[in-house]
Amino acid sequence: MTAEDVIQAWDQADPAAIHPTRGVSEDAYWRSGKVQADMLATVIPDGAKVLDFGCGDGRVAIPMAALGYDVTAVDSSQNMLDRLSARAPEITTVEAAADGIAAHLGRRRMDAVYCLAVLIHHSYTDCLDIIGRLRAATKLGGILVLDWPVSDQPAEADSWIGVTTWSREQQADACARIGLEAVDSELPWGVYRAIKAV
Ligand SMILES: C[S@@+](CC[C@H](N)C(=O)[O-])C[C@H]1O[C@@H](n2cnc3c(N)ncnc32)[C@H](O)[C@@H]1O
Repeated sequence: MTAEDVIQAWDQADPAAIHPTRGVSEDAYWRSGKVQADMLATVIPDGAKVLDFGCGDGRVAIPMAALGYDVTAVDSSQNMLDRLSARAPEITTVEAAADGIAAHLGRRRMDAVYCLAVLIHHSYTDCLDIIGRLRAATKLGGILVLDWPVSDQPAEADSWIGVTTWSREQQADACARIGLEAVDSELPWGVYRAIKAV
């Protein structure tokens, strides 16, 4: 799967594909986003400027904004962003893949970046490219929360909805090269501090 394949598939995807809770009810879906925003708030400082990369229709971005974060919601799918804006017109949206972030930010850097249920669908190469660009968008010392799963049997996703998993060694090597220091946390995702790359 190329990044283009994944991006195109999501743009055409049914909203129900975003999260399993949508199969339960719309209420369960939005509650899951609020729960995850509360989890992110345990590691991201109050009032931070945050970038939600691959925000979808705002499941987590909308409750993050309600918690007082200054949210920039980025997604390659204008369909997703339109649904987000219909619900929360006050949130800044940017239609872009990872290579479009720098042009949007210019010299500005984010206090924190989070990326949930996005990296898992990409190949190793594309995932590294995305993480490198998310790191570049984050100020030194800032926080990145990445849904970037490890496995004893790492494998690449074989479809746009598949899941790519990594070995601990692959991740440690990538972190050193990109400039990420793992931070201990209770969260089910990787939490990192942006540091200088080696
Ligand atoms: C499974 S949804 C997750 C949405 C949201 N993060 C959440 O947890 O509810 C994946 C989203 O990531 C977006 N996406 C996937 N790959 C992307 C890429 N390379 N650049 C920008 N957006 C991407 C898709 O358009 C889709 O909206």
